[in-house]
Amino acid sequence: MNHVLPSGPQAHPFLQLLQWIGRPVGIMEDCARRYGDLFTLRLGPIGPVVFCSHPQMLQEIFTLEAHSFYAGAGNQLLRPLLGDTSLILLDGDRHQRQRQLLVPPFHGERTRTYSNLIVEITQQVSAGWQLGQPFTVRSALQNISLQVILQAVFGITDPQRYHTLSQLLPTLIDRVSSPLSSSILFLPSLQQDWGAWSPWGQFIRQRSQLNQLLYQEIAERRADLDPERSDILTLMLMARDEEGQPMTDVELRDELVTLLMAGHETTASAMTWALYWLARSPAIATRLLAELESCDDLNDAKTLSRLPYLSAVCSETLRIYPVAPIAFPRILLEPRTLMGQTFERGTYLAPCIYLTHHRSDLYPNPDVFDPDRFLSRTYSPYEFVGFGGGNRRCLGMSLALFEMKRVLATLLTQFRFELLDTRPVRPVRRGVTLAPPAQFALRPVALR
Ligand code: HEM
Repeated sequence: MNHVLPSGPQAHPFLQLLQWIGRPVGIMEDCARRYGDLFTLRLGPIGPVVFCSHPQMLQEIFTLEAHSFYAGAGNQLLRPLLGDTSLILLDGDRHQRQRQLLVPPFHGERTRTYSNLIVEITQQVSAGWQLGQPFTVRSALQNISLQVILQAVFGITDPQRYHTLSQLLPTLIDRVSSPLSSSILFLPSLQQDWGAWSPWGQFIRQRSQLNQLLYQEIAERRADLDPERSDILTLMLMARDEEGQPMTDVELRDELVTLLMAGHETTASAMTWALYWLARSPAIATRLLAELESCDDLNDAKTLSRLPYLSAVCSETLRIYPVAPIAFPRILLEPRTLMGQTFERGTYLAPCIYLTHHRSDLYPNPDVFDPDRFLSRTYSPYEFVGFGGGNRRCLGMSLALFEMKRVLATLLTQFRFELLDTRPVRPVRRGVTLAPPAQFALRPVALR
C-alpha cells in the first residue's frame, strides 16, 4: 500500500502556514500549477493537509460514510468564539443530532418568508448612500447581512439589546478575522489574557458581554415562548431531538454565534463580489436589469428565486471567488483508497473549492466572469462546490442564496454602480474565508 502523502512544497511548515494565512490564493495557484489536482501543504501546528480539486475525488470525499471521518475536529481553532457545542465543531452522533434540530428552520420555503424583511433592511441601509458619492461596499453589505441575522435568525426586538449587539458583533468578529489578528486563532500560544488591553484579553471581555446578552435573550424568550413568531431562534427553542429533548441554553448560544459567524460575513462578501463584477461588466449588468424589470412581481419570493439570469450571476459570483477557499477538511478515521490513492487514518483531506472552480476543463477561461456558463451547462454538486457537500454542506445555503438575490434585485433596480478604479480587485483573507478588501468602494449613480 502506498502511504505517502501527495507531493507539496518543501518549505518549513511554519512558513507554509504563514503563506496560507497571508497569500491563500497565491499558494493554491502555485501548488496547482506545480503539483496538479492533489498536493499536500504542511500547515505548522495543524500538520499536513491534502488539497483536492478533482471532481471525482470531491465526490468520493463528500459521500464518505459519516462514521469514517471527522470534520468538526478540524475546526477546533474556532472553539474560543463558537463554544463547545457549535455544530461546526461537532462530529458523529452529536453532529447528526444538532444538524437534525437545525435543518428544518433553514429550509428553502421558510427562508423566503424573510423576503420583506430583507427588502426593508436593504432600503434602509441604501437610503444613506448619495448618488455620485462612493461608499465602502463590504461594510455596507455586512451591515445588511448582520441585521438580517439579528432579526430573521435571532429575532431580537429589544432596541437597546439590538443596538449593543450590532456594535459588539462586528468588533468581536473582526478580532478573529482580520489578517493579523486571525493569526491568534492559528497560534494558541498567543491566546493569553494579559489584561483588558491585550488582544486576547479584549476578546475574552467582549465575548462575555456577548454571552450575557444572548443568555438574557434566550431566558426571556423561553419564559414567554410565542410559537407564532417566525424567527429561527423560536424554531430552535421549539425543536426536540429523537428523545424529545430540547436544546440547552449553552447549545442555543453556541448555535446562534455559529450561525452569525458562518452566515454574516460570508453572505456579505458574496454580495460585494456580485456588485464588483456587475460594475466591471456593464453588459452583464444591463442584461440582469432587463430581466429584473421584465419580472411580473419581484416581491413574489418564489418568482424572484427562479429568475435564470439572476441565478446564473449569483452562481458565477460564488464560482470565481468562492467565499470559502476550502470546505472543512475531512479527517479520515480509517485508511481509505480514493481515486486509486490510499490515505492513512488521520489524513486531513481538504476539498479545495477555489481550485475546483478554476479548472479550465470544467470552466473554460476560468478567470473570466461569465454567468452564461451556468445557463449552457448544469454543473454537478462535485463541480460547483461553493457551499461544500455531503453531511456538512452549508446549513444556510438557501438563506444565503435568497438573501443575495433579494438584496441584489433591490439595489440594482434602484442604482447603477461604477468602479472608482479599473484595476482588478483580488480576494484577501478574512479569518477562514476569502473576502473583497475592506477598502473596496463603488459609486452609486442614477439608473438612467
Ligand atoms: C454565500 C454565503 C455562504 C457560503 C459561500 C457558505 C459556505 C459554506 C461552506 C463551504 C461550508 C462548509 C461545507 C463543507 O465542509 O462541506 C459551510 C458550512 C456551514 N454554513 Fe455556510 N456559507 C454561506 C452562508 C451561510 C449562512 C447564511 C449560514 C446560516 C445563517 C451558514 C451556516 C453554515 C453552517 C452552520 C455550516 C456548518 C454545517 C455543518 O457543520 O454541518 N452559512 N458554509
